[in-house]
Formats: sequence, structure tokens, C-alpha cells
Amino acid sequence: MNKADLIKEIQQLKQEKDAVILAHYYLEDDVQAVADYIGDSYYLSEIATKVPQNVIVFCGVSFMGESAKILNPEKTVLLPDPASDCPMAHMASAENIQRIREQYEDVAVVCYINSTADIKQHTDVCVTSANAMKIVRNLPQKNIYFIPDQNLGRFIAKQVPEKNFIFNDGYCPVHVQITGELVSKARTEHPDALVLAHPECTPDVLEQADYIGSTSGIIKYVTDSPAQQFIIATELGVLYQIRQNCPAKQCFAVIPEQICPDMRKITLEKVASVLQNFDNTVEMDTALAQKAYAPLQKMLELARKD
Ligand code: 13P
Ligand code: SF4
Repeated sequence: MNKADLIKEIQQLKQEKDAVILAHYYLEDDVQAVADYIGDSYYLSEIATKVPQNVIVFCGVSFMGESAKILNPEKTVLLPDPASDCPMAHMASAENIQRIREQYEDVAVVCYINSTADIKQHTDVCVTSANAMKIVRNLPQKNIYFIPDQNLGRFIAKQVPEKNFIFNDGYCPVHVQITGELVSKARTEHPDALVLAHPECTPDVLEQADYIGSTSGIIKYVTDSPAQQFIIATELGVLYQIRQNCPAKQCFAVIPEQICPDMRKITLEKVASVLQNFDNTVEMDTALAQKAYAPLQKMLELARKD
């Protein structure tokens, strides 16, 4: 089937099956183009609780689909490729959480949303890169055990010096490929460009950034900035939305490998196929879903507060 027919088929199936398509900014351009809502992980978890359709096709890695299902247990959540899994989501353990809870009386276990439901169920509150600072700042506990991402954790710790952070050793394999040295080289090649980085980057990259933020923050920064050239230190899927918003601005990658292989497993063919066959539904043990609901719901509540 050619691409135009495939897109037409997806649009028809969406109507027939009462489905909505959500896509993360790291997806292939053509998948973002068929989505009803595109966003960062906070926006997508929030919008998943508001859409009226009974079926959510979640074009993202599996923890995103899981979160949508936990927040909307009555809905059908379809993952176009269930093998699309964020490696960082597994880089924390219930044993370590237990150990920290025994060690510290006054501790909040803060869980980056890039984690499995299995991990989330043992934590106090979820965060994303868009809301972590606000949420951590407003927690009553002095000690913060931040899992799984050490880089986002260290970045937030710098902004919230009144808290005592305990870090975990998780990381994003895509973002850690971008090094400070490579950013310096890109700066030399593009001396007029501003450096925009995702907080999953390592501290030597963040030190050189003119702006640090979530995927939506980076897109907004480029869109609103009077500057014309930018070095982008995150997954290159964000360029799709940047090109829609401001086609004349120039963006440069630090390295061509800024591509998340898991996000990129999702194709238009797979979107059409799950809509057609209703396979790859997110299924979860009810007790697990109920336990993992609390930290996600707490994130939504705290992020909405003024
Ligand atoms: P955002 O929440 O900024 O969209 O990031 C998600 C992610 O997976 C980054 O690697
Ligand atoms: Fe996970 Fe990194 Fe891919 Fe984001 S970019 S989904 S953190 S592997």
C-alpha cells in the first residue's frame, strides 16, 4: 500500500473504532503527522486523561502506553510495537528503594515517568522533565531519592539546593552519546548557534547549554527565540515540530546518532495494523495498576497546582 492510502486507512479506522492517536516528539515524521496529539511525556499523560475516545493508540515507548492505561483503566490502549521499550525504564530496583526507605525516615521516592509500572508502584510521586523542578521543590520531605535517571536527578538537585538528593545510576543511552567535547566542536562549527539540551544529557553537556528543558520546552524555545541557529542536544524527532513552527530557522545535531531506536520502531504500517487487529493492547494486573496509579495521579495534581 502506498503512503497516501495507508494514511487514509488509518483515518478511516480511527473513526470506525473510536480511536485517538497520541505521539511523542521522538517519533518518525510521518507518524507524528497522523497523530491527533503530539507532545512531551507530561502533555501526553495529561491529554490521555481528557480525550473522549474509547481507544488510545499510543505511539511511544511502552512505559508511555502503560501510564496511559494506569490513568485510564477502562480504556483500550494499543501500542503499535510492544517491543518499543525505553532501556532507562528498567534501571531502578524495588530492592534499592526499600533500602533507601529503611535508611532515611524523611524521604520521597521521586520517579521519572521513564520507568516501568513495576518500579512506579513502589514510589511516591512521578515527574517528567517538564515538571520535576516544580514538584520536587514543593514536596514536604527533605530527602529525595531520584530514580531512574541520574542526569535529570543531578540537574534538578542543582535547582533545588535545599533538598538532599540520593541518586540512582540510570541513564538514557541515546542522550549520553552526546558529550561535552562534541558540543564544543559543534559550537566551533556553528558559532552563532544557541545550544539547547534535554536534561537527560550529562552534566558536561548541560554546562554548555543556553537552555535546558523538556522536548516541548526545546521546541518552544526555538519557536519563540529571535535567534536563527540552534544546536539541538536531544533526539532529532523534535525537528519535525520545529520545522512546522518555524521552517526558516536552522537546527544542527551534535551527532547523527541522536535517534532513539525504540521510538523509531513505530511505523505507519504498525499503527494501521493495531487499529485493524486490536492486538498489542496494554494489559496489566489490577493490583499493580492500582499501586502505580497513585504516583502518576499525584504528579498530575502537583503539576497543575499554581
Ligand atoms: P520529554 O518528557 O521531554 O518529552 O522526554 C521524554 C524522553 O523520553 C526523553 O528521552
Ligand atoms: Fe528512553 Fe532515551 Fe529513548 Fe527517551 S530517548 S525513550 S529516555 S531511550
